Amino acid sequence: MRNFVYFMHKINQAEIQQYADALADEGWFVIQDFVDEQFSKQLLEIVSETRFNQNFRRAGIGAGADYQLNNKVRGDFIHWISPHPSEPVLQEWINVMTILRSGLNRELFLGLQDIEMHMAIYPSGTFYQRHLDQFNERSNRIISVVLYLNQHWEPGMGGELVIYRDAAEPVTVDPHAGTLVCFLSDKIEHEVMQTHVERFSITGWMLRKPVGLGFL
Ligand code: OGA
Ligand code: MN
Repeated sequence: MRNFVYFMHKINQAEIQQYADALADEGWFVIQDFVDEQFSKQLLEIVSETRFNQNFRRAGIGAGADYQLNNKVRGDFIHWISPHPSEPVLQEWINVMTILRSGLNRELFLGLQDIEMHMAIYPSGTFYQRHLDQFNERSNRIISVVLYLNQHWEPGMGGELVIYRDAAEPVTVDPHAGTLVCFLSDKIEHEVMQTHVERFSITGWMLRKPVGLGFL
C-alpha cells in the first residue's frame, strides 16, 4: 500500500467566491501551488503506472488519413479516469473537484451536475492547436480545469498553455506541477504550445447534463 498524503488545502468560501468572480469577470483564472509537491508527485506516479500498464490512447483519433489530420491538431495521449478509482489520490482529486464544482454552482448557478476527467501525456514535439473545449452545440462541457504535473518544468521546455482573450493580449501559463487553470469551456480559446519534454496533466470538465434528447 502506497503511503498516501491527503490534499491538505481546504478550499474555503472566500476562495470559491474569488474563483467565481474571476470566471464571471474574465472567464478564466490560474492558481500556482494549488496542490503541493507531494500531492502532485502522487498523481504523477499514477500517471506513470497507467502508462506502464499501457492504458493511454491517442486522444480523439480516427484511422489512416484522419490520424495524420489529428496529428496536426493535437498530439496527446489520454486515459479517462474512472468515477470510482481504486487509487486514493485520484479519489481525493475527484473530491476536490467536486467541492469546487458545488461551490461554483452555489455562486454562479451554473447547474453543473457532473465531472469527467482524463490524464494526458504530450510526448516531446506535440501540441494542441488553438481551440474551444465546447466543440458542438450539444456539448455539455461548461468549465474546464487543468492541473499540471511536470515536477521540473523550466522556461524553454515548451508546453505552455496560451489563453486567448477578446480585448487583451493572450496569457501564457507555465505548466509547472501544482498549477491549476480553470476557464469557461465555451468562451475561452486556448492552445498548448509545442512541448520539448514529456508533459503531464490531468484535465477535467464540469458538466451540465443535457436536458431532454436535444430535439429543441
Ligand atoms: C484540452 C486542453 C490544455 C492543457 O485537453 O482540451 O486544452 O494545458 N488542455 O493541457
Ligand atoms: Mn482544450
